[in-house]
Amino acid sequence: MLPSIRRLHEIGYRLFATAGTSDFIQEHDIPCQYLETLNESGAKEQKSEYSLTQHLANSTIDLYINLPSNNRFRRPASYMSTGYRTRRLAVDYSIPLVTNVKCAKLLIEALSRKINLEVSDVDFQSSHRTVIIPGLVNIAAFVPGIAKAKSSDFEEVTRASLASGFTMIRVLPVGLDESLTDARTITAAHINTKNKSHLDFNISVAATWDNAQQLGQVVSEVGSLFIPFNHLSGNINKVAAVASHFNIWPPVKPIVTDAKTTDLASILLLASLHSRPVHIHNVIHKHDIALIALSKEKGLQVTCDVSVYALFLSRADYPEDPHLPTSKDQKALWEHMDIIDCFSIGSLPYYVAHSAKQNPSPIVGIADTLPLLLSAVADGRLTLDDVIQRLHDNPKRIFDLHEQQDSSVEVELDRRFTVPLGPIWSAFAGKTLTGVVRRVMFNGQTAYLDGTITSQRGQGKDISGMGPIPRPSTRDSTSSTSVVGPRRRMTVEHQLQSPFLRSADHSNSTYATPSTMQQSSALMSIPPMIPGPSLSEMISHTPFFRKHIISVKQFDRNDLHLLFSIAQEMRIGVERQGVLNILQGRLICTMFFEPSTRTCSSFEAAMQRLGGKVVSVTASASSVTKGESLGDTIRTLACYSDAIVMRHPSADSAQIAASVSPVPIINGGNGSIEHPTQAFLDLFTIREELGTVNGLTITFVGDLKYGRTVHSLIRLMLHYHVNVNLVSPSQLALPEEVKADLRGRIEFQEYTELNREIVARTDVLYCTRVQQERFESNDEYERLKSYFVIDNRVLRAAKKGMIVLHPLPRNQEISDEVDFDQVNCVSFVLLTMQRAAYFRQMRYGLFVRMALLAAVMGPSSDHI
Ligand code: NCD
Repeated sequence: MLPSIRRLHEIGYRLFATAGTSDFIQEHDIPCQYLETLNESGAKEQKSEYSLTQHLANSTIDLYINLPSNNRFRRPASYMSTGYRTRRLAVDYSIPLVTNVKCAKLLIEALSRKINLEVSDVDFQSSHRTVIIPGLVNIAAFVPGIAKAKSSDFEEVTRASLASGFTMIRVLPVGLDESLTDARTITAAHINTKNKSHLDFNISVAATWDNAQQLGQVVSEVGSLFIPFNHLSGNINKVAAVASHFNIWPPVKPIVTDAKTTDLASILLLASLHSRPVHIHNVIHKHDIALIALSKEKGLQVTCDVSVYALFLSRADYPEDPHLPTSKDQKALWEHMDIIDCFSIGSLPYYVAHSAKQNPSPIVGIADTLPLLLSAVADGRLTLDDVIQRLHDNPKRIFDLHEQQDSSVEVELDRRFTVPLGPIWSAFAGKTLTGVVRRVMFNGQTAYLDGTITSQRGQGKDISGMGPIPRPSTRDSTSSTSVVGPRRRMTVEHQLQSPFLRSADHSNSTYATPSTMQQSSALMSIPPMIPGPSLSEMISHTPFFRKHIISVKQFDRNDLHLLFSIAQEMRIGVERQGVLNILQGRLICTMFFEPSTRTCSSFEAAMQRLGGKVVSVTASASSVTKGESLGDTIRTLACYSDAIVMRHPSADSAQIAASVSPVPIINGGNGSIEHPTQAFLDLFTIREELGTVNGLTITFVGDLKYGRTVHSLIRLMLHYHVNVNLVSPSQLALPEEVKADLRGRIEFQEYTELNREIVARTDVLYCTRVQQERFESNDEYERLKSYFVIDNRVLRAAKKGMIVLHPLPRNQEISDEVDFDQVNCVSFVLLTMQRAAYFRQMRYGLFVRMALLAAVMGPSSDHI
């Protein structure tokens, strides 16, 4: 905490602390006022100036950091510590309280960066599951008065759409009395929309039986061509009249139609003859959705949408309304959910209101849309991903809409509410739905929060004339999904700006290539990080300075924490700067007497990323082949370097090297005994991926006899409260001497089969290779090499949040399909998780090895 405390002082906070803490802080030259802690007889007789209670009660303290001590095993449950009582006081007096050291450090770091955040007093008042999803697209907004002079319908629709989670609308070019069919009406629409919109929008043009020749005048001012067959006015009656529109309309702008039955068949034929995509709006009939399914199957470029009202209302509810599907139609729509590309609103709610003899408002149905869909998510009929795909990803792709980088919607997923019997009619009034839009961010600003529109009208852009968004050259289904998926995840990640999210899309994650990392940090406009005093300080105060690193037994929990704190700083440094100059002027030798890809190259990369240099000695080309002893080889390398990283097949190699070397030896694996640095990075991976080690069930599978990484990692587990399963054929069971270290200190069970039940309760599945090179008999190896294979069948039993680790290299024990495993989890945001963490594990290894090298060699004098 000391660097964080210093940081608080530096940014102008006055510090108060109780006895020991205050002394400690002042000893480190940080001004701090002493406060008396509570005494047994109560706080009354304390002088207010020195009384913690008084300061808390009088709200003279802005932030109270109190870390509970971990001594729950020694005290009776009824015992109430002083710390507890002071924390209770802070809560009672509404003083912000932090009780976790990591949170405290992060909060102080955040405070010191002075990021301008809009935090209102409702930001922390939630007991609901909140997800942040991308701003949604209302692809068919019905604006009855779009062409009518001085109509306010458009502004109303944009307000209602924004408040319902939409940040972009495509306005249907068909109004109540008049449609947008020519230059005159489009000009009227531009006047009606100018400086009125709360969100980005585009308008389209409607086809009439005779306007094909005039469309050239307006094509640059609209987003698409709409061919109406089933609207209130201005419908085309003959498909023949449409043929000329297909000839004239530019291929880069979409054609949309609401054609049904035989008209739909004709339009599909026309689209097919012209080899161009067509989008079918407001599908309601079972035969139509079946025809679209067949057309897709045959390779036609057809996409479609269904109005959300049609999914939840049928003629069983409103027998008089021909615009609604029958119950059978509705059933068919749900059965063809995979065929439906988008959800829409359209004019259907308006018609339904009309049939219900209600006074229809232009905004009817808009507010119902997302809650209806989220209720279906709650009922298990849809997934959140289904909704996002159909209200964001697919609309953007199909209609070539721009990405709204700084727009998102915060939704309380499981909040139930009753649709009010308000001034705006709803077919669902009085019904209980699930899911509430809490906040809408538009262009990086809160535009809607808890029922209030906070943005000004006119903030939304007219994107009607925007050209197509450049796409990858092919638009087949594979390429479109690969465009759609990552874009969504990027939006979600951008919200969080968390480097720790596990994503299938590596270009957005911690594991991005250096160039994409640089791009993403540029996007977030975070200033380049110069490793601050805290890092130098941490490195200068490690107990590993100039120490050999031979075994994990040298490390206690504090050492591990320090190492991991340094590793985290290294990660930030590498991602922002690529190379840090902490070990400038230093040199290490690497000497691997056994094959290595990861350990050797990651140590070399780590050294270079720290600004140091590496000499790597190939054992087979060294004087070892001339019979030179290990001791002499090490003495030689020590003359040239500041540390030696070594891997050797014999158990006592690391000790021998350490006994003769004047420079630190770092053990990169000694026979089947230990591999300490791998264990550090394994543990770091668990912490980074799962947030903690305590409380986890860790299952080791494979060759536990010869797997040195297991021997090291399992010993590190002794510092945590974990449950360990050891799964191996009996011939490859964990050696007795390792088990002896565990007995009485950690809970472990041994198995010879990896059954579903073990997998189901596992948080970390640690797999290992059967170590062929250590077997005395090759037959025995052949018998055991495929004893366990982790594949998707095994993962089916696993938790969504489980991670699969492997020190690598792998042979048959993890099948390739596991690499592509993906599960969707909703926590604060929608996350796509890859349980296969072994590739990420390698990346963590770089940071941990950087931390270790820096700790062993200390910062160069320039750096201090
Ligand atoms: C391991 C090793 O060499 O012990 N791999 C590694 O260091 N990354 C595991 C193995 O060889 O199976």
